[in-house]
Amino acid sequence: MTEIIDGNEVAQGIRDGLVAGIDDLTAAGTTPCLATVLMNNDPASQTYVSMKHKDCEEVGIATRDIELDPEAPAAELFDTVDELNADPEVHGILVQMPLPDHVDEREVLRRIDPAKDVDGFHPENVGRLVAGNARFKPCTPHGVQKLLAAADVETEGADAVVVGRSNIVGKPMANLLIQKADGGNATTTVCHSRTDDLEAKLRAADIVIAAAGVPEMITGDMLSADTVVIDVGINRVETDEGSELVGDVDFESAKPKAKAITPVPGGVGPMTRAMLLWNTVKAASAESGVDVRLP
Ligand code: GUN
Repeated sequence: MTEIIDGNEVAQGIRDGLVAGIDDLTAAGTTPCLATVLMNNDPASQTYVSMKHKDCEEVGIATRDIELDPEAPAAELFDTVDELNADPEVHGILVQMPLPDHVDEREVLRRIDPAKDVDGFHPENVGRLVAGNARFKPCTPHGVQKLLAAADVETEGADAVVVGRSNIVGKPMANLLIQKADGGNATTTVCHSRTDDLEAKLRAADIVIAAAGVPEMITGDMLSADTVVIDVGINRVETDEGSELVGDVDFESAKPKAKAITPVPGGVGPMTRAMLLWNTVKAASAESGVDVRLP
């Protein structure tokens, strides 16, 4: 029987496991606080940000909610980031992407205090991750590691294939999988739009992590039996009845081939949100010097 890896359940376990640490920090005078900055009118981004706030409230993390006019000059965003960097009550800063075209995303990421960069996108934090000394693991690949661990999937010695090479998922995922650490020690191949014979690479894999952003591009006939399939894709596609969310994997055809598989929705998505809370608690712990146990 194929195991369906339930991201909602694993994410709930992470949230539950964070509460004691949040309570300890709060009792010691440091309530963890996440600030979000939204500078676009994209309804999906607005939904993501409001879900992040709801998640924080549920576990006792304080929030700041800053919305900037997408037409505002870039300097306004830089000033906002500077203020949040200087604010001792704020431990994590998340600037929601995408940003308007007139704002240089890389300049924004460089400006965030690396100690508050709970996305893990600042060049210093990217470098630390690659060097095996991560401060904040980016939320989605970190969540994938937690899902694999929860499903008792051994990465050590496994052949892992990551499909996609984004800075947010593919590259950090591959880096985590090759680390000499728990959840790593995998022999890792990164595939992308220019990969020759993707199917051959997929068929040789023990673990496939699909993060290409292409709806249902991986079908069951491309996989060997007993592959573990983690689907990072969240794609909205039009249907006769309206629209629906699908992953990068065609779930129905892949499921019979897989040893274990994540659904979309309800797989990786909830884990990304949970690991943002995790990083915020870690940031507050580091800033306050109050050690807490992280799940
Ligand atoms: N937009 C889509 N995904 C993300 C993310 O993980 N972090 C931020 N800051 N923006 C996003």
